[in-house]
Amino acid sequence: MAKPVIIAPSILSADFSRLGEEVRAIDAAGADWIHVDVMDGHFVPNLTIGPGVVKNLRPHSEKTFDCHLMVTPVDAYIEGFAQAGADIITAHPEAGPHFHRTVQAIKATGCKAGAALNPYTPESAIDYVLEELDLVLVMSVNPGFGGQSFISSQLRKIERLAETILQRGLDVILEVDGGVSEKTAKQCISAGASALVAGTAVFRGGPESYAGNIRALRGL
Ligand code: DX5
Ligand code: ZN
Repeated sequence: MAKPVIIAPSILSADFSRLGEEVRAIDAAGADWIHVDVMDGHFVPNLTIGPGVVKNLRPHSEKTFDCHLMVTPVDAYIEGFAQAGADIITAHPEAGPHFHRTVQAIKATGCKAGAALNPYTPESAIDYVLEELDLVLVMSVNPGFGGQSFISSQLRKIERLAETILQRGLDVILEVDGGVSEKTAKQCISAGASALVAGTAVFRGGPESYAGNIRALRGL
């Protein structure tokens, strides 16, 4: 039987004036991971969270902190996020010429390493680094903002990656990020996704809706 899908709410859609409370609320509502979107105003046209915020949030949940770094150049920030309490650090191969080195730097901290692919980036970009990875993040929107529409062409990328991971016998989590709703969650799961990031779809309706929203994404 297939493993249950991992749900990783993106705190980008949380109320930033009460972030600790929001993290506790999604933890209690059944989130599997906490997805932290780090944006540098350079690789993507938005600024969000630094390691200081991650450090302050760490005591609010024991769940996996899944840190998605949309930062270029990224290598100088890896250690800081690891020290702050990240469990998974995902970076973009589009953000620099030496992605293999970036992956090694993440693994050297003891964190799990992920590669995030922008919608235009083919899966072949990580062909020679796939064996080193713990996670691949397929971006189903152009990174930078929450609340965008799911780009359906990415389903084909998810299928191809799921097939490659299976063929090579790898233990790599296949995560999808952007525009994940009840409807697109189903499509992602059928295409082979094992983890789903969702901001808008989890935080919609406020804290009393979080548990129901998470269940809906699981298809329950
Ligand atoms: C986009 C971020 C996503 C995004 C998801 O750059 O990586 O995590 O906030 O938000 P929704 O679910 O609203 O598309
Ligand atoms: Zn993200």
